[in-house]
Amino acid sequence: MFMRFFLIGFMGSGKSYWGKIWGDAYGLDWYDLDTEIEKSEGKTIETIFSEEGELAFRKKERKLLKQFLNRDQFILSCGGGTPCFFDNMSFMNRHGVVVYLKSTASELAERLRHEKDTRPLLKGISDDQLEFFIDQKLKERSADYQKATYHLPTKFLTNENFERIIRRHQ
Ligand code: S3P
Repeated sequence: MFMRFFLIGFMGSGKSYWGKIWGDAYGLDWYDLDTEIEKSEGKTIETIFSEEGELAFRKKERKLLKQFLNRDQFILSCGGGTPCFFDNMSFMNRHGVVVYLKSTASELAERLRHEKDTRPLLKGISDDQLEFFIDQKLKERSADYQKATYHLPTKFLTNENFERIIRRHQ
């Protein structure tokens, strides 16, 4: 029996936060794709971006994502860009259940304001431009994010939202 859940959504939408909580609550192993990449490379995401560039990072991300085919029961918190490169989104839809944590640009800007320096894509963006930048990126990415089976608005998210999904796949 497969129970593979992929959490997708923009940076700062709470994919890792909720993935860990739901994994604990519903007895599923929880993984974070960025952490898996860092462990496998022995470098931070920031260092991979700055030393090797985004394309090299995306290739590593795709490789690590595909290795999850060897596992049957888990929640994987993806990176914000994971669904938008190569065939990653169709891979996730084919082999598991994709859940999109959906936030507005203003919620995300509020959360990401203090984390800009550790996120390669947000480096150098001023506070004034942050919400606009996020809004643009969300628009670019929404066609991919929309392909998720479930869309959960993050504003009032609780365990029950995920419980309803997991019950349908048990
Ligand atoms: C990225 C999001 C990050 C990380 C990398 C690129 C993106 O993951 O994979 O910095 O393209 O949105 P989080 O969404 O976990 O921050």
